[in-house]
Amino acid sequence: MTVGLKTQILPAGEAAAATAARTLGDGGLVAFPTETVYGLGADAANAEAIARLYQAKGRPAFNPLIAHVSDLDAAQRLARFDATALALASAFWPGPLTLVLPKALCCPVADLATAGLDTVAIRVPAHPVAREILRRFGGVVVAPSANLSGHVSPTTAAHVQTDLTGRIDLLVDGGPVEVGVESTIVGCFDSPMLLRPGGVPRADIERVLGRPLALPPDDPEAGDGQPLAPGMLASHYAPRTQVRLNATSLAPGEALLAFGPADLPGLDTAAALMNLSERGNLNEAAANLFGYLRALDEKGARGIAVMPIPNDGLGEAINDRLRRAAVR
Ligand code: TXA
Ligand code: MG
Repeated sequence: MTVGLKTQILPAGEAAAATAARTLGDGGLVAFPTETVYGLGADAANAEAIARLYQAKGRPAFNPLIAHVSDLDAAQRLARFDATALALASAFWPGPLTLVLPKALCCPVADLATAGLDTVAIRVPAHPVAREILRRFGGVVVAPSANLSGHVSPTTAAHVQTDLTGRIDLLVDGGPVEVGVESTIVGCFDSPMLLRPGGVPRADIERVLGRPLALPPDDPEAGDGQPLAPGMLASHYAPRTQVRLNATSLAPGEALLAFGPADLPGLDTAAALMNLSERGNLNEAAANLFGYLRALDEKGARGIAVMPIPNDGLGEAINDRLRRAAVR
């Protein structure tokens, strides 16, 4: 049982990176910042550590994990890259893009982490703290977002503490993250497919590909009985308070999650107001999204009403997370 562990919290730096690398090597669980959200890392080759990771998050074991490596060379030891995958990796790594690729024959990532699929999700993070931990550890680190399964992803060390204190060995505090939504996931199948919108806008990827990304089929069983995007099936990212999208007015007792100038009817009786970006900037909104959802969830409001958010740039990822937050 992982609950009841003493969770050590260290400010990011040399000592923290060294302790993180040692803890990972000992089969421990380490939360650390990436540029997208905080991740909860375990040694990808250590099935026992991965089992503890699933348990600490309360995550169903059929939902596979992303393998984090320090560069393309290391990634090519895990999976087979075709020309498309190489083009995407060279354009966006290090950075908030995850590629789902056919596993290489000697892929060291434990089957438990890939949920028995014959593909593996790989990402090269850009955050200096994540990179230093990977460099010192020297191996592959699987890392889901460092939240309890089904909760909103953590964008600060305090969010990680709320969800995982007593369940993990170490938390490296590197301050608030920059991007605020998880990585974009592209499946490098016959036609490259957008499995999850995220920190790299779709248009940037399509510019490199020279063609539109395919979308996953509506039927979750498509793909020879293997779900193409296993983690995207359930309601996810859910606050406890009911979320209502595209609000153009406020009901009494509702809290408002605003975007741009907020002057809706009913605002005078709002239980709370937070503005993702007063100047209507989608990058700023993404960085604030999960923290504001967590904060509004604490207000005891009747509901959280969310103003419409444009779907371009990071707006696609923001709207995807908000739609999931609104599912009951
Ligand atoms: O930004 C991110 O990607 C963060 C940071 C920590 O790197 N990580 C993250 O991990 O968001 P997680 O576990 O919360 O989300 C990973 C998603 C899940 O939806 C999972 O189903 C999907 O990646 N995934 C992992 N392996 C896959 C595979 N082989 N095929 C399809 N989807 C896969
Ligand atoms: Mg997650």
